[in-house]
Parts: sequence; structure tokens; C-alpha cells
Amino acid sequence: MLITGDLVNNGERIGHEGFKKLLGKLVDAGKKVYVTTATHDYNGQGRDENFFSATYYGKHSTSKAEGVYKDELLSLYYDFGPSAASSVHDSGSYSVELQPGYRLIAINDNGNGRSHCGLFEDGFKWLEQEIIKAKNAGETVLLAVHHPVVPPWEVYEKVVEFEMFGGYRQLRELMCKYDIKLIFTGHTHIHGIKKYENAEGKSFYDITTTALVAARGKMRKVVIDKDNNTCDITSIEIDKIKGADLKGKSAYEYRYSLNFVGLLESLLPLVYKDWDKFLERARSVLPVDKFYKHKKIIVWLTKIFTKLKLPSLVKFVEKFNSSKPRKIIKFAFKRLMRIKMLTLARFAGKYCVLTKEDKKALRGQVAIEPLFDVLEHIIPGNPPFTQDDPVYKVFYGVCLRADALLRLVGKDVSFIIKGMHSVAEIADPFLRNTRTGNDDEIHIKLGE
Ligand SMILES: [Fe+2]
Repeated sequence: MLITGDLVNNGERIGHEGFKKLLGKLVDAGKKVYVTTATHDYNGQGRDENFFSATYYGKHSTSKAEGVYKDELLSLYYDFGPSAASSVHDSGSYSVELQPGYRLIAINDNGNGRSHCGLFEDGFKWLEQEIIKAKNAGETVLLAVHHPVVPPWEVYEKVVEFEMFGGYRQLRELMCKYDIKLIFTGHTHIHGIKKYENAEGKSFYDITTTALVAARGKMRKVVIDKDNNTCDITSIEIDKIKGADLKGKSAYEYRYSLNFVGLLESLLPLVYKDWDKFLERARSVLPVDKFYKHKKIIVWLTKIFTKLKLPSLVKFVEKFNSSKPRKIIKFAFKRLMRIKMLTLARFAGKYCVLTKEDKKALRGQVAIEPLFDVLEHIIPGNPPFTQDDPVYKVFYGVCLRADALLRLVGKDVSFIIKGMHSVAEIADPFLRNTRTGNDDEIHIKLGE
């Protein structure tokens, strides 16, 4: 069993202790357990940029808990990987034989906990030496690390590059150089299989597995066929949660109702249907008290804007303080929630070519439902549409139209997201699987 880090939430010692007990049960049952640790597993110290602070989670409140520092992690999890390893690096990375002929090198994030979550030069040196050793022994190497080496979407690498494995370009080239076909990653909570190919046509796969607490929490099953040196990767959805009170819901429904998209789906209609209920329900995810105390904020903002001699902003704030804006918000939401697919198709114009059948299928359909379908698939992978799907044609067409509108004013989307040039290009991988075609499973040849 391989777990690629972020074992607890904020480096809580009590969390690690509880988790180790669970891992111990697996070991007692005869499983081999390999873990890596990552940024959520410790609290920052000194020059560390890690800002997590250990928290005790009570039923209705939180309080400060005892945390763990990075230099304790290796000894804390020594029995779950390093103790069986032939080599352990200072970073906590280790190289272990899984079965004769197969080796796992588990890379530990050893950066500063934020802007560089990866190995430093000595770590890379150790890693290359271990790979060479394994290759000389005729072993097939599998890698594991917490942060992604190939991003789930291009936009991820452009917007939050620091959320990639620190040194990901170097690691990609190392994998291509030594013909390592697989790396197992975590961090993003997303279920995805992504291929990387370098300029010389050498390639590997980054297999990322979703979080268990996600609405469609999944595990991966990896089976290696030694005779053919191939590997079959499948997914197992967690559809039962033993011992939990799911309040009559299925494991999926229960988790979905608590996940971000599920909360959003149940909360949004309340904005125009029942504002007070919306504020009450949103209390756990939004700074609701600020809504209630908005008058104080208004006074505060007015003072600042008056001091800065910005009369138009003062006027705007005063206007917002009247009851009108709430009505406008309610009205706007009501309209947004009822926008029809065919209205969007008209907006997309020539960028959305629909057949007669497409139009028939879309008649009367509101856009919000397939939009939530898209959001719901972000984490568990396998986006909901194909290019032939009329809903895809409309959504993609709207994005192309947005690109055309930007071009009209002499811009492209790079003025908002550096390095990206088209809204359609950003949206496409959220609408259909532009990765390998199936995020749940793949059959891979591990060597030539
Ligand atoms: Fe993480």
C-alpha cells in the first residue's frame, strides 16, 4: 500500500499517532505499507515557508494542538517504508525493493514547505545514483512523490507552479533518460492519468489518485505482469464508510453534500429563494458574520474612501448599503440559474454548430445543471462530455466566443492568466478528457 503524503491536515502529532495506529493494523494484516510525507504533515520552523499550524478539531470549535516538525518525520514513519529500504536519503526519500526485479523509489518533499516542494541538488544526486544502481541490477523502477510532476491541466502549471513538485522539469528529464514509465503522485486530490513526452519522444505517466474524502474517493490497484513487464492500473471507488453515521445517505451522497461543489449546489439557489437561510447555511464556508455586520464594514470603507478623497467610491459604497443591491443580487442569481443552453448557443453564434438533433436535445435545458456536472467531475476525473456532445459544443463555443470578444479589444486571456492564450484552451480539459482518455485505468508497458 502506497500513500503519497499529506497524511494529516496541519502537522498534528495526535493525528499522526492515530494514523500510525491504522497503518499498523495494515502491517499486522500482512500488508507492506510505504508512505511519503508532505507539507501538511509538519509545522514550519526557521527558514521554512510552511505556514500550517497544528489544530485540534473539537465538535464545535478548534483549538491549538501540538505539532510535529519536519526533522521528526523520518523517524515517525520509519516503519512504513524506510526500515525496509536499501538506501535512505536525508530528505526522507528511500529506495526499496518491492519484489525481486521491481523497485520503488519514494521521494520525500524536502523543500521549504511552499515555494519549493521538492528535492535539492544533493537529493537529485542521490535519486540518480539509486536509479543507476537499480538499472545496473536489471530492476524496473517505479517512483512516488507527493506533488505533481505533470499538471492535471496546463493552466495549473501556469497559475500555481509552486504547487508542482519542486524540480519537476529535472525529474521529468531524469525519468525520460532512464526510461522510468510511472510516477505515483497526490496533492491535487484529482484522479488523473497524464502522459508526458519530451522532445525526443521519450515518455512516462504521472498517476495521481484522488483523496479518499472526495465525494468519489478512490484507491488505485496496480498489478504488474512480470512475464510481459506490463502494468495494469485500475480504480476502486470507496462506496462504503464503515462505522460512520451517513444520515441515511449513500457514501457518495454524504461526501458530496460536504464537498465544495455539493455545498455550492445546495447553497446557490438559496441566494434568491431564502437569503437568511443562505447566510445561516453558508456560515461554515463563508465569513457570514461579515455579511451581518456589513454596516460596520460600510462605515469603515466610507471613512477610508473619504480620507483617500475618492468620492465616487464613497457613493458606490453608500448605494450598496441601501436595500437595492440585495434585490439586484437576488434578481441576477435567479436569471443566472435559469439561463438556457440554447441561449448560450445563440451567444456562441458561429462558434457553436448544432445539428437538428442537438437542438432538440438541448431544448428547455438550463445551463446550470451541466455546469455542475463539469464541476462535479473535476476531482474524480473523466470530464462528462465528448466532442460530439451538444452540451460540449455549446460550452466550448461560448469559450471560443469569449476568445473572439477578447481579440476584438486586442487582447487574449494571457492578460489574466500569464502563459495561457485562449479561454477555450483552458476550458477544454474540464469538459472532456484531453489526458489519456480514461483517468480510471490504463495498461502500460514498463520497458522495451
Ligand atoms: Fe499536498
